[in-house]
Amino acid sequence: MSIIIFKKLFNIARKLRTRFLILFDFPSLPSKYNKFAFYKFEISFKFWSFICKRNKKLAKFYTKENIKYDKFNISDITFDFNNLEISSAKDIDFPDIFYKTGIIIFKNFLSQETKEDYLSLIDELKNYTFQENKSVLNQFGFSNNRGIRFDYEKRNKNVEQNIYRINSKRFNHGEWKICRNLVKSFFGKDVFPKELMLINTRSNGIEDECQSKIIHIDRYLPVIKMFYSPFSIGIDQSPFQYIPTSQLIDKNYKDNIWRTIKECHFKKQNCLPESDHYYYHNYSIDDILPITCSENSLIIAATNGLHGRRGFDTENPQERWLTFMEFYRKFNKLSLLLSAFK
Ligand SMILES: [Fe+2]
Repeated sequence: MSIIIFKKLFNIARKLRTRFLILFDFPSLPSKYNKFAFYKFEISFKFWSFICKRNKKLAKFYTKENIKYDKFNISDITFDFNNLEISSAKDIDFPDIFYKTGIIIFKNFLSQETKEDYLSLIDELKNYTFQENKSVLNQFGFSNNRGIRFDYEKRNKNVEQNIYRINSKRFNHGEWKICRNLVKSFFGKDVFPKELMLINTRSNGIEDECQSKIIHIDRYLPVIKMFYSPFSIGIDQSPFQYIPTSQLIDKNYKDNIWRTIKECHFKKQNCLPESDHYYYHNYSIDDILPITCSENSLIIAATNGLHGRRGFDTENPQERWLTFMEFYRKFNKLSLLLSAFK
């Protein structure tokens, strides 16, 4: 009996801790559509934008210029990492084009040695692959004794994912140090996550509707995500998609977000499927750039800009390996405030 009470108290303490920590999370988009949510969003947007504008790097996202409708293509944003002259990991910074487009690709990112180490990790992970006939459904996970946590998700009829969470200490050498320094240079603080997610997405036919295929923004403040792709990603392999320049925060940005929230609310109330959000930000389907890449590429995207996953548009079986690095957890409201008054 006492064990049951202890377990209950432990669970309550854990929930309270999570609720408390959420208060410090990086500001997120409003989840409701009503008058109160509107005023709360207005105040939050103004306050946090004022703070971001005091951070030298984040301030570059705020614009009065009208470059939003300039066209960029994949060659404008792709850099060969071998051709960059970097004398030390600390020497690296984002190319100027990143602040215009919101997205860049470093091809040939890992050296041969670091890449081989990474590929051996993938070989190791293949031992922990669920077979479809084992009838494992969403969010089933386990940890193994090497500290790898593993989840399996059936995304829709033809698409499934294995999600591996790996301690980021394994990414502490070679060019991964450059990755860490880029993150530090962007946020002004070392916010590299404790765990990185390696996701293996597989398809066995044309993909149905799926939430992650919707073109959307993640947050209303400047923020980045990184993706490392060990293998090439072609148009049929569900590449990441991005609308260059959509990360720029101009005078319409806040109103476009609220318009999107209103439209999504209306669709939900009328049981209509949610559609892409680019339309509410005054973009068209032609503005979407599929981020196809060669093997060994690092993609960096400002995810307060419009993005999504293209989806598998082919009958042929396909697969994609991608390492996700995101920084919302460690770069929280407190970090934002401190970065503004340094
Ligand atoms: Fe997203």
